[in-house]
Amino acid sequence: MDSGEENETMYYSDEVIEEVRLRSDIVSVVSGYVKLQRRGSNYFGLCPFHNEKSPSFSVSPGKQMYYCFGCGAGGGVFNFIMEYENYTFPEAVRFLADRAGISLPEEEYSEEARRERDKRSSVLELNKLAAKFYYFQLRAPQGQRGMEYLKNRELSDETMKHFGLGYAGPDGSMLYRYLKKQGYSDALLKDSGLMQVNERQGMYDKFWNRVIFPIMDVNNKVIGFGGRVMGDGKPKYLNSPETVVFDKSRNLYGLNFARTSKEKNLLVCEGYMDVISMHQAGFTNAVASLGTALTSRHASILKRYTDEVILTYDSDEAGIKAALRAIPLLKEAGVSARVLHMDPYKDPDEFIKALGTDAFQERIARAENSFLFELSVMEKSYDMKDPDGKTRFFQAAAAKIAGLELEIERENYIEAVAERYQTSYEGMRKMVLNVLMQGAPVRTAPRSLERERRSEKDDGLLKSQRLLLTWLVEYPELYPTVSSYVSPEDFTDPLYREVASMLFEQLAKKERNPARIVDHFMDPVQQRTVAQIFNTEIPVTTREEEEKAVADTIRRVMTGAVEQKNAALDPGDLQGLQALIAAKKRLEGLAHLHISLPERKE
Ligand code: GTP
Ligand code: MN
Repeated sequence: MDSGEENETMYYSDEVIEEVRLRSDIVSVVSGYVKLQRRGSNYFGLCPFHNEKSPSFSVSPGKQMYYCFGCGAGGGVFNFIMEYENYTFPEAVRFLADRAGISLPEEEYSEEARRERDKRSSVLELNKLAAKFYYFQLRAPQGQRGMEYLKNRELSDETMKHFGLGYAGPDGSMLYRYLKKQGYSDALLKDSGLMQVNERQGMYDKFWNRVIFPIMDVNNKVIGFGGRVMGDGKPKYLNSPETVVFDKSRNLYGLNFARTSKEKNLLVCEGYMDVISMHQAGFTNAVASLGTALTSRHASILKRYTDEVILTYDSDEAGIKAALRAIPLLKEAGVSARVLHMDPYKDPDEFIKALGTDAFQERIARAENSFLFELSVMEKSYDMKDPDGKTRFFQAAAAKIAGLELEIERENYIEAVAERYQTSYEGMRKMVLNVLMQGAPVRTAPRSLERERRSEKDDGLLKSQRLLLTWLVEYPELYPTVSSYVSPEDFTDPLYREVASMLFEQLAKKERNPARIVDHFMDPVQQRTVAQIFNTEIPVTTREEEEKAVADTIRRVMTGAVEQKNAALDPGDLQGLQALIAAKKRLEGLAHLHISLPERKE
């Protein structure tokens, strides 16, 4: 897998997906990320998807599912990888296939495409070797200068190790000689971006006499390097050129770590050192664009991981310009932005060194709304002491507010601007209205966001339906009994009905594969609901109690089904009437139902 764009249209057959699922035992996959302890037939651990102190995250080997009773995250092994690694479904399939040693069917590659792919993997291999070489150099006696420099910048050994920092000594062809000895061709070395060529010297190392920052993609593959002079020389940083694996516009430094941070937002800054100091201080959600301005591609990559970015750019003019450019790009990608004020310090690295972690945390909390930030930058170009200047500023502000899409958004900003600039709310509102009247398209009122609310009674019924489906998965032996009373149509919610009918179909074939049912649904919200359906907490202790509870639940589900059929019945609907009568009959037959459960396999 690479950092490039994934081919989302890539299609894997159900058989292939099923094979990957079968060979990816969920307990062993999840164990790679979460420390699990066995309790009964399940495993428990601390949920990786929300902060908690006692374990409510469960993994069931029988169901091949995970479920968190705390936050409701749940699903099969693909969902786990998708949520944890932030992968798309095809990416998760490829990842797990790779792990299980299954080779996936590939599209036909042209000869040229194959060569390109081979080159990519050779360059990645070279980068890895180079990163190890630099890493070793830094820790060897000859790396002392680099080590002193980094220590001087207050980096701990642990931080240096975490980021794989290295050192390239003053000899400008050490890496070249090392790689040649391993048998790599000059052509490949040139393509890797690790070397430079000139007529006089031939080929020599691109990086020398610098500390080295390996740049990793989200899968921890080294795709390029940055090198900093140890002092005031120029250029301060050298970066790898674009290569087959290195594209600055679609990679962010630190994202390989930040993407699994539990913070809900990401901090976006300018430099390597800023990312590193923030991570060292515990802000592991920090990333940086690689010495270039943020691109719209960056913005859409960020959107995959978060809905909110906090811009922690330098406090100088260049930093402000960079923020002003980034805000609309982020907004377009659906990411909201806030701007952190670093003053009186230049950048996060200096700020944290001077004022410490708590102060920085406080600045994060106080980061400014991006719209108000834009306004305050705008304000600087008006003479606010002059009444005309002030009026012009308010007009400009009104025009900016009028550009907002939602009425409620405009309302909120009219209010905020009136308050911040001590002007009248009515006056501001009229100005905005004026702009809107002058030809700007009339906008429709925002959609009502109020969600349809279910009555408590419905919730209770759904709970019984969930319980029943969970029991069926836990004890497939119950299926003949349950299915003689309850049929999938008795489930009142369309999603539940679909889940029930798939489960009934499996159980009729003596199959039990709830994770497959989860994967059937494409929408993450639906997947979550399905996971919840199969992981309802069974509130009993003894077997007798449980047997009685199952019988009660079947009765409740059937009572609900009869009531619903009754209420929805159209007088002319003969089929509906028959279904109702049949359901009533089954309900009557349930009066003396006794369920016997198999011994629990603890
Ligand atoms: P320190 O001075 O080591 O704290 O670095 P910094 O991260 O504060 O650097 P600065 O804010 O000056 O620059 C931000 C980022 O721009 C760096 O991390 C580099 O990626 C890039 N950059 C800075 N200087 C140069 C340069 O001279 N050449 C190139 N190509 N990139 C640079
Ligand atoms: Mn700096």
